[in-house]
Amino acid sequence: MAATNVEVWQRGEIIEIVDIAHDIKRIVIRQSSTATADPGSHVDVMITVDDELVRRSYSIVEQSADRRDLTLGVFLVPNSRGGSIAMHKLSVGDQLDITQPLLNFPLRVGADKYVLVAGGIGITALVAMADVLKRIGADYTLMYAARSKEAMAFRVGLEKLHGERLQLFCDDENSFIDIPELVARLTGDTELYMCGPIRLMDAIRREWVDSNMEYTNLRYETFGVSGWFDPEEFIVRIPAKGVEVVVGQQHSMLEALESAGVDMLSDCRKGECGLCEVRVTSLTGRIDHRDVFYSEHEKNANYKISCCVSRIVTSETGLNEHADVMAGPAIVEIVTT
Ligand code: FES
Repeated sequence: MAATNVEVWQRGEIIEIVDIAHDIKRIVIRQSSTATADPGSHVDVMITVDDELVRRSYSIVEQSADRRDLTLGVFLVPNSRGGSIAMHKLSVGDQLDITQPLLNFPLRVGADKYVLVAGGIGITALVAMADVLKRIGADYTLMYAARSKEAMAFRVGLEKLHGERLQLFCDDENSFIDIPELVARLTGDTELYMCGPIRLMDAIRREWVDSNMEYTNLRYETFGVSGWFDPEEFIVRIPAKGVEVVVGQQHSMLEALESAGVDMLSDCRKGECGLCEVRVTSLTGRIDHRDVFYSEHEKNANYKISCCVSRIVTSETGLNEHADVMAGPAIVEIVTT
C-alpha cells in the first residue's frame, strides 16, 4: 500500500543504530507491516520523555527492498524538547509504536526541472526524492547546506550517486546558498522542494513570493523544531476556563494544554495545517512563530499562534539584543478556537 495521510499504528523494532555524522545517528526500524514509504514520507514515533509518551516525526530516508526496514536520520537537536535525546538513547532490540509511513510532502513527477534544498538534518526528507529523480532521468539539483562536512549526514553516498548534481554549502568554509541568485535563475516551470531550519525556508519563501514565482511549485516539509529563538519556559493562560499552565522547554504549548485537560484540535503537529490555532488576547514577551502556515502579515499581527510548534519567549533572548529585559517567564493569554 502506498503511503498516505491516514494514520495506522504498528510496532517497530530497532535493528540498527550507527553514528553517521556529528550528533546524527542512522536508526533503522523494522516495521511490523510492509507499508510502502514513498519519497517524502515520514513516520511518527511514540517515545518516552520524562516518563511521558510524546510523539515525534522523522523523515524516512530509505526503505529496504522487502519494505520491512525504514531508515531514519536523527539529529540530537540543541535545546531538544527531549525527543531526539530519547531517540539517541535507543538500543538495538528496543520496540516502539510507530505509524505506517505517512505522506504529506509528495514528489510530483513530471516537472521540467527540480531544485531540492536541504538545510542540516532536513536532508532526510530529500534523499529519497533525489534518488527517484536520478532514476527517472529528471533535470534536478540537490543543494545541501550544513555547518560543516562533518555535520552532513549521508554526504558520501549522495556524492557518489548524484555527482555534479549535488552542491554542498558549509558554514565553516564560508559557503552559503545565495537565495536571491538561486530564485532569480529559476524558470517558471521549476519545482523547489525544501526542508531545513525555519530561517532558511522562510528566506526562500520570501524570495519566491517577491519574485512572483508560482506558489504551488514551492513545496516544503517542516518538523517545527527550529525557531528564531532558543526555547524557554513560559506560561499560558486561558482566563475563560481558569487554566494556567507552565510550558516547559521540552514541551509544546499544545502538549502542555492537552496535559492540563484542555480539549484541543490538532492534526499535523508540525506547524503546517493551522488546526491547533489559538488566539492571543494578552502577551508579555514575544511570539516565536515556528509554523509555515501563517503569512508574514499574520505573523506580524501576533494575534494567532500555531500552538503545536510556536512558542513565547522573553525579549532578552534570541535575535533582539536591544529589547527590554523581562524579569520572569513570558506569559500569553489565549482563547481556544
Ligand atoms: S496541528 Fe497542524 S499546525 Fe498545529
